[in-house]
Amino acid sequence: MTGATKIAVLKERAEGENRVSATPETVKKFIALGASVRVEAGAGAGASISDEDYRTAGAEVVADGAASGADIVLGVQGPETDVLAGAKPGAWVVASLDPFGKRGRIDAYASAGYEALAMEFMPRITRAQSMDILSSQSNLAGYKAVIVAADLYGRAFPMMMTAAGTVSAAKAFIMGVGVAGLQAIATARRLGAQVSATDVRSATKEQIQSLGAKPIFVESVKGIEGEGAGGYATEMSEEYQKAQAELVSSHIAKQDIVITTALIPGRAAPRLITDAQIASMKPGSVIFDLAVSQGGNVEGSVADQVVVKHGVKIIGYSNTATHLAADASALFSRNLYNFLSAFWDKEQGKPVLDEEIGNAIRLTQGGKVVNERLLG
Ligand code: NAI
Repeated sequence: MTGATKIAVLKERAEGENRVSATPETVKKFIALGASVRVEAGAGAGASISDEDYRTAGAEVVADGAASGADIVLGVQGPETDVLAGAKPGAWVVASLDPFGKRGRIDAYASAGYEALAMEFMPRITRAQSMDILSSQSNLAGYKAVIVAADLYGRAFPMMMTAAGTVSAAKAFIMGVGVAGLQAIATARRLGAQVSATDVRSATKEQIQSLGAKPIFVESVKGIEGEGAGGYATEMSEEYQKAQAELVSSHIAKQDIVITTALIPGRAAPRLITDAQIASMKPGSVIFDLAVSQGGNVEGSVADQVVVKHGVKIIGYSNTATHLAADASALFSRNLYNFLSAFWDKEQGKPVLDEEIGNAIRLTQGGKVVNERLLG
């Protein structure tokens, strides 16, 4: 071993990105593993972590050249290669790399000789649950979507019986019951809304009920499972989509709040709400489209804008987790630490990946793009 593994923590460059990829807690833990950690000055500012907090945890804080000499560079989003200048040949770049959206950048990592590891490609297997950034960030996003919708809604969520009369409970409908949707149900329930939810995966029916919400499912089209590889949804048949649209049309007209979270891996988000359905809703209702940056579940939704159509407010953030930067950073950072520490080879003083996870998340190696999802 030639000295301690050097880990660099970058300040995020992307517009509106407030998260950071290591916290003082994970810095301490990396140091306990035998690594040294260098943090770019101001990296934690958006998540309320000061440079001093990082120094106290044992990191070196530098204004320039954080990546210089690094073996492993951590980020929330993928850095441009110029930010990586001076990193060791073959250095790992560990972040949410958006492999399909930022293909040019992935090619640049390959040309520069870095080994890029895309955390969003982490397989959904039991032992990798604690490394799963999609889950940790979606969970917070599901919560935030409800909070934002509640804020924009000109009425209250819970039923209130007051001397001046009764305020009725808001009706909230959650479409897509993965990690974000489950948290959205739980949050809307905690705020006192009457909650219903739908998904194409029939396994979610029980989960919806166990959270005290009402499942709204297509029953007329038989033989539907909707669950494909890795527990993700598959694209549904035309017949199913038609039945789903009819069911949703009659239900949505009675809703005050709709949170959509539906995604299909590798495809544009399915369109779940049309303009005609929005027009059927009561003025003052609010829709939060959590899929807006993947093409949107809702017709007319625009990232980071409140669009008002037919008196209904439609909102969706391009990056929902960044609006809860402190918690999102804490969980994201733990995902990165859980990942690197699980593979830490004590003899070599650095992480060594196994085949299953290595092949799933490694995008570039030896100057080439190597991931089969990018090659095909
Ligand atoms: P996702 O973000 O890919 O999709 C969100 C939800 O939208 C999913 O529940 C999906 O079924 C649903 N959906 C897709 N098309 C739809 C449509 N047309 N209408 C209504 N709903 C639609 O999913 P997420 O949150 O990443 O979770 C997917 C699955 O993976 C879940 O079963 C989850 O429990 C599981 N999971 C497993 C993990 C592990 O074992 N390590 C970790 C995290 C999640």
